[in-house]
Amino acid sequence: MTADSTFGGGRPGWLGGLDHVRNVVRQELISRQLDQHLPQPPARVLDVGAGQGTQSIRLARLGHQVVAVEPDPEMRAAFQAALSAEPAEVAGRVTLRDASVTDLAAAAFGEIYDTVLLLGVLMYLPASRPVIAELAARVAPGGFLAVAARTVTSALWRPAARQDWQAALAAFDEYDRARAEARDMRYVNEIGAPARADDLGALTAVAAGYGLRLETWYGVRIAVDQGELDPPPPSDPRELAALLDVEERLGATDPYRQLGQLAHLILRKAPVGRRLQTIDAERRFPESRPVRGPMGRTVRWRRPPARPCLRSFPDRLGRMCGRLAGFGSGSRSTARRARRPHRRLGEVGEELMALGIYFSPASMTAAQYDEIIARLDAAGAGQPRGRLYHTCFGTGTELQIFDIWESQEAFDRFGVTLLPILGDIGLDPGRPTVEPVHNLIPG
Ligand SMILES: C[S@@+](CC[C@H](N)C(=O)[O-])C[C@H]1O[C@@H](n2cnc3c(N)ncnc32)[C@H](O)[C@@H]1O
Repeated sequence: MTADSTFGGGRPGWLGGLDHVRNVVRQELISRQLDQHLPQPPARVLDVGAGQGTQSIRLARLGHQVVAVEPDPEMRAAFQAALSAEPAEVAGRVTLRDASVTDLAAAAFGEIYDTVLLLGVLMYLPASRPVIAELAARVAPGGFLAVAARTVTSALWRPAARQDWQAALAAFDEYDRARAEARDMRYVNEIGAPARADDLGALTAVAAGYGLRLETWYGVRIAVDQGELDPPPPSDPRELAALLDVEERLGATDPYRQLGQLAHLILRKAPVGRRLQTIDAERRFPESRPVRGPMGRTVRWRRPPARPCLRSFPDRLGRMCGRLAGFGSGSRSTARRARRPHRRLGEVGEELMALGIYFSPASMTAAQYDEIIARLDAAGAGQPRGRLYHTCFGTGTELQIFDIWESQEAFDRFGVTLLPILGDIGLDPGRPTVEPVHNLIPG
């Protein structure tokens, strides 16, 4: 078990309840909801925290190619036991790896996937943001990340629904404390494991910051969860079918889905080639004009500013602006950028999330920065495709970077060139802050 997970204490309860009504409803509902979004087989699926393998094996039966990642040896043993009961053809489509979500690069074979699953795992991990960041990088353009997470709403509602008034008040106290301390709400779950609840809006915003747009979300387990007991499912097949159909309808309908014990989010990455909506040149920049872009596509470029550019100021301010525009006074890139009359703002019409990306390294000097720019220029990545805006600011050893990127994929592509350069000169960029761009007004 990984040191950062709280699942271990709940493992016996989890394994012991696999054939009880809660898990039966949960797995069937998640299956039905996923099926509405999955591509035709064979898709590439990464199931992170795959546990006993219920979803991995089901997807392999449908013809998908599954890489399942599971750090807990007992859970892997349960998975292997289930897999060995499958026909060779199905088992052959599943690769089970020992790894944690915090350690995915090797386990995921450095690949990207059409569908990435994180089902019932997030609540056992200390924070959602780094996990979403890690998994977003594994989702192929046009693919999706499915996350089943415990929400604050359900953590508050469950004890009240069971008429356990003391527990309900204690949950509200914890909710208040968590808000006052600006942290996530904690609780102990049904299988006795300490767990963490996510705020649905905050989780969605974090995902958007990594280029994953909320396509839809479902509630999972609404009506069957009111009692303390977790009995076997109804033995009458018609009753069970009706129960599952009712849960499915509740899980897709407001306000009932809000009360689901899990929220199942479908977070979609934009396909390659989709374009900016955030920066709608026609609406925000009436002076812009369409021109022929790469590969004959129509794009919009902004006219050069009518007023003098700061770069032309003659004095200290002018030099400073020269550095701002060209990243190093007198450098080749300054001269090249100074000659470039128009700046691309983004294409019009389709939907894609532009990202603001802020780096605040522990230490970066002007000399280091200029060296990075020179090496990027030399590698042909001085003006990377998909970067809409770049600035370096600060003084002394505290230079920082703020960029705007058309998409996470464009930024990731640039990282392939940038990261070895940073490694080479021994500069640790730290973890960037990534948020969706709300607006951009040049000038
Ligand atoms: C409640 S089970 C869910 C299993 C499966 N995803 C499902 O929905 O049936 C939670 C799983 O998350 C796994 N897990 C916990 N911490 C993890 C981590 N850091 N990385 C990957 N998986 C983790 C646990 O070992 C466990 O198998």
